[in-house]
Amino acid sequence: MRMITFSILRHFKCNALAYNISRRLKSDAVDIKSDDLKTKGASPDPDYIEVLPSWPEGEISMRIKATSSMRIYPNFVTEEEESSLLSELEPQLKRLRYEYDHWDNAIEGYRETERDSWNEQNAAILKRVRETAFSPHAELLPRAHVLDLAAAGYIKPHIDAVRFCGNTIAGLCLLSSAVMRLVHEARPELQLDALLERRCLYIMRDVSRYEFTHAVLGGEQSVWRGARLPRRRRIALICRERPRPEHCE
Ligand code: OGA
Ligand code: MN
Repeated sequence: MRMITFSILRHFKCNALAYNISRRLKSDAVDIKSDDLKTKGASPDPDYIEVLPSWPEGEISMRIKATSSMRIYPNFVTEEEESSLLSELEPQLKRLRYEYDHWDNAIEGYRETERDSWNEQNAAILKRVRETAFSPHAELLPRAHVLDLAAAGYIKPHIDAVRFCGNTIAGLCLLSSAVMRLVHEARPELQLDALLERRCLYIMRDVSRYEFTHAVLGGEQSVWRGARLPRRRRIALICRERPRPEHCE
């Protein structure tokens, strides 16, 4: 059997290019007055996004940008659709071993693969993901990334490398709920948690994708609004945009 290695993960940690992009976005920042909070909506997903207490009260403009660039669609797939995806993925995953203890890995306790062909029912689900998350003109990476985290697995803070991935990242969450933590790369007091329930779809783009690191919490750290959120094995099916041409070698 041929091992498929997923290049984004090999070059996971934020790199100089991601950093430059975040500088540029920052200087484009518009000022938003606190009155705009109500009209524009500081938190479009109040049930699923929680700004953490370290975030200064007055830092409103970045709060709007961060929370509005991270979307969560609960119950995006039904239980039946989840089973259908799993029955196609499991035989492929079963052949792989979970990886632990690689000092340079951004992920602990995972196995992964990519997939571009699906049975009819699953192809329709993937189509729905793409239609929800990406503009009709977006160019996507041809294969979906399948990331299987063991119950004890977790993802450390990182920014997906701009050399391997464009603006929008869409993840369909299967098997277990989890908490994703976003932390501003240059201002670590700006933090938020996103509740990624089993069968939800999340979409990360713009500020949340380029300026914030994201992590999937594990073990004792897996806490949502003060209550433990037990992490079981979790599979994320992730669709990404192709890298922007200026970031390709
Ligand atoms: C990634 C990642 C998040 C998830 O693979 O880059 O951040 O939902 N995954 O598993
Ligand atoms: Mn990532």
